[in-house]
Amino acid sequence: MDQWGLIRFIGSISLFVLLLPEACKAGVQYVGTISPGVQGSQMTWINLNGMFLVSNNSNFAFGFTTTQDVTKFLLVIVHTGSSKVIWSANRGSPVSNSDNFIFGEDGKVSLRKGEGVVWTADTGGKRVSAIEMQDSGNLVLLGNDTSVLWQSFSHPTDTLISNQDFVDGMKLVSDPNANNLTHILEIKSGDVILSAGFQPPQPYWSIQKESRRTVNKDGGKVAVASLRGNSWRFYDGNKVLLSQFIFSDSTDANATWIAVLGIDGIISFYNLDDRGSDSQTKIPNDPCSRPEPCDSLYVCSGNNVCQCPSGLTTRPNCQTGIVSTCDGSNGSTELVSAGNGLNYFALGFVPPSSKTDLEGCKSACDGNCSCLALFFQNSSGNCFLFSNIGSLQNSNAGSSFVAYIKVLSGSSGSNAGGGSSHKSFPVVVIIVIATLIAICGILYLAFRYHRKKKKRPESPHDTSEDDNFIEGLSGMPIRFSYRDLQIATNNFSVKLGQGGFGSVYQGALPDGTRLAVKKLEGIGQGKKEFRAEVTIIGSIHHHHLVRLRGFCAEGTHRLLAYEFMPNGSLDKWIFKRNKEEFLLDWETRFNIAVGTAKGLAYLHEDCDSKIIHCDIKPENVLLDGQFLAKVSDFGLAKLMNREQSHVFTTLRGTRGYLAPEWITNYAISEKSDVYSYGMLLLEIIGGRKNFVPTESSEKSHFPSYAFKMMEEGKLREIVDSKLKFNQDDERVSASIKVALWCIQEDMHLRPSMTKVVQMLEGLSPVPMPPTSSPLGSRLFSSFFKSVSEEGTSSGPSDYNSDAYLSAVRLSGPR
Ligand SMILES: *[C@@H]1O[C@H](CO)[C@@H](O)[C@H](O)[C@H]1NC(C)=O
Ligand SMILES: *[C@@H]1O[C@H](CO)[C@@H](O)[C@H](O)[C@H]1NC(C)=O
Ligand SMILES: *[C@@H]1O[C@H](CO)[C@@H](O)[C@H](O)[C@H]1NC(C)=O
Ligand SMILES: *[C@@H]1O[C@H](CO)[C@@H](O)[C@H](O)[C@H]1NC(C)=O
Ligand SMILES: *[C@@H]1O[C@H](CO)[C@@H](O)[C@H](O)[C@H]1NC(C)=O
Ligand SMILES: *[C@@H]1O[C@H](CO)[C@@H](O)[C@H](O)[C@H]1NC(C)=O
Ligand SMILES: *[C@@H]1O[C@H](CO)[C@@H](O)[C@H](O)[C@H]1NC(C)=O
Repeated sequence: MDQWGLIRFIGSISLFVLLLPEACKAGVQYVGTISPGVQGSQMTWINLNGMFLVSNNSNFAFGFTTTQDVTKFLLVIVHTGSSKVIWSANRGSPVSNSDNFIFGEDGKVSLRKGEGVVWTADTGGKRVSAIEMQDSGNLVLLGNDTSVLWQSFSHPTDTLISNQDFVDGMKLVSDPNANNLTHILEIKSGDVILSAGFQPPQPYWSIQKESRRTVNKDGGKVAVASLRGNSWRFYDGNKVLLSQFIFSDSTDANATWIAVLGIDGIISFYNLDDRGSDSQTKIPNDPCSRPEPCDSLYVCSGNNVCQCPSGLTTRPNCQTGIVSTCDGSNGSTELVSAGNGLNYFALGFVPPSSKTDLEGCKSACDGNCSCLALFFQNSSGNCFLFSNIGSLQNSNAGSSFVAYIKVLSGSSGSNAGGGSSHKSFPVVVIIVIATLIAICGILYLAFRYHRKKKKRPESPHDTSEDDNFIEGLSGMPIRFSYRDLQIATNNFSVKLGQGGFGSVYQGALPDGTRLAVKKLEGIGQGKKEFRAEVTIIGSIHHHHLVRLRGFCAEGTHRLLAYEFMPNGSLDKWIFKRNKEEFLLDWETRFNIAVGTAKGLAYLHEDCDSKIIHCDIKPENVLLDGQFLAKVSDFGLAKLMNREQSHVFTTLRGTRGYLAPEWITNYAISEKSDVYSYGMLLLEIIGGRKNFVPTESSEKSHFPSYAFKMMEEGKLREIVDSKLKFNQDDERVSASIKVALWCIQEDMHLRPSMTKVVQMLEGLSPVPMPPTSSPLGSRLFSSFFKSVSEEGTSSGPSDYNSDAYLSAVRLSGPR
């Protein structure tokens, strides 16, 4: 390692050490309130699905959620029962999984994206002393005198929720559609108006013109709009109810509803108390009465049928040919009639540009470079000019408008003249230049990639330094370079063992911390997936789980660095051949059994996303200096590719720890781990392997022997004969009974790991287990027959298909 490499290496270690308190905080979920001094990224709270603050009633949560692109994240308020997002801090600017939300000691609240700040709550420079996630779904920032400095209810995004007051000055804005058009809801001059986000905006709905509303008091000016029960209510400045819009038959006055302004410009209503079900009532009522049910200039009719209007059918793609208005490069334009009987969504809402006759209206548009379309009503003389134009509508009889559209003259199909080719000249040049730039770009990237690949062996640091820093900050496992681990393990010289996933080597960091470095073999995953899994594994901390200290994903190398466990794995202690050797006493064995159960119970029930270990066996229970048991290799089942997965499903790898559902058609669940745990517990008690072909036939299959002894009421026969224990110790028979409950063929009979812990600790009575069913022994005999035939039978591995593995979530939230 060169000088700089060494400095960086030590640097990354000290960074880790310095940030240890932060790392300890990783994954904590706050209830109701958080105080200054909290920061973290999606990775920090990945075990909580990103949600770090929940309301007291746990109906709402604040945290990170993924977008459609699973590598990008939004900071949101989500309704937990329906998973509906009701507010978002960084809409349109998603962050990565390592970008931090920061509630600093200085009382500032922000969300970072790389080096910059993508969102911050504007509190007028005042210090925030607490953030509250209220039971209503409102996120409130309080000042030091508990005054409200900022609240999400005052800064809606595209959603309103029951009891949130929408007042003058607020805006609800939809996500932009494919043409980058947004829709906006706001209160303007005493009306609630929905407009297309053109410049200037073009309204297409207002509550005053809504025929479905119920009027309570005529003539008032709306100042507040609020969802209450099944209606949207509109109040004046004195809170007098003016009118309401009833959107559901459901009469539950306390139901929580949301109104969402969709990307399509339609407001929909969802009942959160009914898992977000849609009320089906929409605003506006007619799906064609909105800005872009179809592309610009197409006529919408019926159920979103889109047709090019008669006057434009000769033009390519129904387009006008005008790229931008008023930019000086305009060719000559002309107005063409789009046909009669057309309507436009904004016509009922905007005042006419002028009152004139058709010729006057046409010349007004002709002489105004920003005018793209005109609508003229002969009966009233009203002339409307528009500088942006959405979809057209078929008009209802009565409102007979004529429509003229400005088009580039000469570019209409047949007589494409000189003007057109003159105009397309710059376009051609631009396309050629763009293509050249793209090609150069690709070549440059390819060149860089090539160079990087060649360079990698000498300087692995250059690509990973930034990641190092970010990961260190968020309390995640350290990312080591391959070289770091090579040095730490003295070039992988001391092998501790060989497991299903690869070899394990002893190592030490320069500061003396001892490590067990696992070199994974045949991992079928890319770097990104690997790191995602490692992030999950690394975020799981428990007294009875082996702690992941760091990892390495470099080239084809995949390594995991765990805390070192001085007493190695349990199998070395319970399967002693030499009788003179140190024997684990009953007390220690019992504590190992309870510890292992606690570790597994944590994986199954206390992690936010359930993790099924899939490979519980004595080799995967490690012992620290005080013989405290810690489960290792959890979460790794997810990392394996198809060939690798054979390792733990073939019988040679794991002898009899696999639950029968691995070779029957039942889905694998946490109860499969319970089975393996039961087998392990039996071995701990018996001090022998469960299957020893050389034993007398009665004892060769230990579980069957155990069931037999239980039936005959001779439980103590099952205990290791070398072991001394107090005859009055209830824990002995309790442990045996627990083991026999765990290895029931019917997985529904097996207790949960939490129940196992309670039974072992005497907190819950242990009933007599049923004897194993005949099906079970049949399975066992075939199971073990194939073992003795060296396991080449296709039976078990046939069931080991990807479908089986993916049918269950082996680990992780994804
Ligand atoms: C949550 O409950 C605690 C205890 O009842 C209370 O003090 C706190 O104000 C509540 N927080 C919110 C945001 O409702
Ligand atoms: C609240 O903060 C302000 C400064 O932002 C400070 O002047 C004031 O003394 C603080 N009040 C309390 C009660 O801490
Ligand atoms: C989309 O529109 C917004 C303004 O409404 C503008 O700032 C943004 O640059 C536009 N994006 C694209 C891709 O045109
Ligand atoms: C609605 O809530 C109020 C007050 O919380 C309660 O008194 C009333 O019984 C509830 N009504 C229904 C239908 O649940
Ligand atoms: C072309 O653009 C100029 C200014 O940009 C404007 O004065 C002129 O009216 C436009 N011509 C047409 C035919 O629209
Ligand atoms: C338009 O209105 C004028 C009078 O306002 C009328 O004379 C004329 O016939 C109308 N034209 C059409 C096409 O309806
Ligand atoms: C040109 O037309 C736009 C609408 O397209 C209108 O807002 C603007 O006032 C018009 N300009 C003039 C000088 O008439």
